[in-house]
Amino acid sequence: MPSTQSNGQRQAAIVILDFGSQYSELIARRVRETEVYSLVLSYSTSAETLRKMAPKGIILSGGPSSVYFEGAPKCDQKIWDLDIPVLGVCYGMHLMVHQLGGKVEAAIGRAEYGKAPLEIDDPTELFTNVKNGSTMWMSHGDSVLQLPEGFDCLAHTSNTPMAAIASQRQRLYGVQFHPEVVHSQYGMSMIRNFVYHICGCEPDWTTNTFIEESISQVRQQIGNKRVLLALSGGVDSSTLAFLLNKAIGEKLTCMFIDQGFMRKGEPEFLMEFFKQEFHINVEYINARERFIGKLEGIVDPEEKRKIIGTEFIRVFEEESLRLGPFDYLAQGTLYPDVIESAGTNIDSKTGERVAVKIKSHHNVGGLPKDLQFKLVEPLRRLFKDEVRKVGRSLGLPEEIVRRHPFPGPGLAIRILGEVTHEKLDCLRDADFIVRDEIQKAGLYHDIWQAFAVLLPVRSVGVMGDQRTYAWPIVLRCVSSEDGMTADWSRLPDEILELISNRIVNEVQGVNRVVLDITSKPPGTIEWE
Ligand code: XMP
Repeated sequence: MPSTQSNGQRQAAIVILDFGSQYSELIARRVRETEVYSLVLSYSTSAETLRKMAPKGIILSGGPSSVYFEGAPKCDQKIWDLDIPVLGVCYGMHLMVHQLGGKVEAAIGRAEYGKAPLEIDDPTELFTNVKNGSTMWMSHGDSVLQLPEGFDCLAHTSNTPMAAIASQRQRLYGVQFHPEVVHSQYGMSMIRNFVYHICGCEPDWTTNTFIEESISQVRQQIGNKRVLLALSGGVDSSTLAFLLNKAIGEKLTCMFIDQGFMRKGEPEFLMEFFKQEFHINVEYINARERFIGKLEGIVDPEEKRKIIGTEFIRVFEEESLRLGPFDYLAQGTLYPDVIESAGTNIDSKTGERVAVKIKSHHNVGGLPKDLQFKLVEPLRRLFKDEVRKVGRSLGLPEEIVRRHPFPGPGLAIRILGEVTHEKLDCLRDADFIVRDEIQKAGLYHDIWQAFAVLLPVRSVGVMGDQRTYAWPIVLRCVSSEDGMTADWSRLPDEILELISNRIVNEVQGVNRVVLDITSKPPGTIEWE
């Protein structure tokens, strides 16, 4: 049975202390993958609070700071005496070393970023079932110079003599690399070793427990009030519709706003699917001209997103008055949307939390201040593939569950520069061809996202005897596990050729197709 606190909330078996890493929630999610409940807390959580919470293990996240900077974020020194196993990841490891009397220094000339083979010196405990020489993902500018008393080195890389360390007697472990990212081959085995063997956790947190707990939380939050859901047809909002439908039944009303930036045939398909097939009450709102009108002359991507986001909420407010009253707005916000809209990074010198704005996604960043709804966001802590599992468990068909992600502002952010009817038609046709060929080749489910981007520059081409001067289409296909990192997909040449030929021949206004071969980072998946 899962442990619960006196207030009925589930007790976290593993607590992650967040030092401002973009990967903190990813660590939490990796722990959840082992079916163990975990919670991310601030690095400043006191040892006393942790003692009362009595987790079975603590993970210290990475972070952008250096432990020897004045004001660098530190954890409560008493944490080391709690007799709870601790795993420090990157900055977390440096902190462990620093606070326990060892030495950390800038790894001048030996900083490591990217993949590195790990040489294991002690294959027991943390490294049980981890293959010697396997790849781990490094991202650090500091290194451990001297171990605290009682610590041993467990593994090294060619550039980092102390890549993993431990005081097995005190059950304190540190790793220089990031076991939580997919590029670390045996990262999950290490997390499993820590969670099960070192901390002694039992698996008791599954997709079904998430559903049950979310349903009861939503019921508690909503009471007798009515909820409006912006249904886009993507896996997030569809899963949310099914979840809320189960939780609050007829108190939920879905609204599908057609902003005019959907893919070819999408609005028709979705209305048919939810209304006819699943008998969910969906209102179709045609707001196409309204949105494109607002984007006239707008070229800046952030401005576009804000305008679309604001307009979206305005339409919602207007339509909700017509259909309402509603108290709550439900949104399929996921963790990557949250972190990329307002990161929880910590200033490397002062230790202060700062919002690092990468991109404002319409579902979080663009909300106007005078918004009249309260928000319901039960998927906020989940990553995309976790949402897919939840959707599946709720009975959502594969056709929706396995759809590629599609951004809220839709094709509008895949047209660089000003959005016009002409460009939209052109991109919609090109996008259709990309999906069509990828589906026909049976590759759709091997790819995270495959789409077309329209660039607002013209180049010279030749068709028949005619000189052309037209737009290029960028083909963007990526593989990814959670959208946080991605690699470009190596599509077979024949498919690339087919897509290119069809786009240039069938799409009016395009004379060139180019392929994006950038991973994320440093690129993002969308172009904008
Ligand atoms: P980037 O471009 O930041 O995208 O690498 C990461 C993932 O997020 C999707 N994305 C969005 N999803 N609303 C969404 O629901 C948005 O505004 C939005 N913008 C980007 C993107 O397609 C990719 O899967």
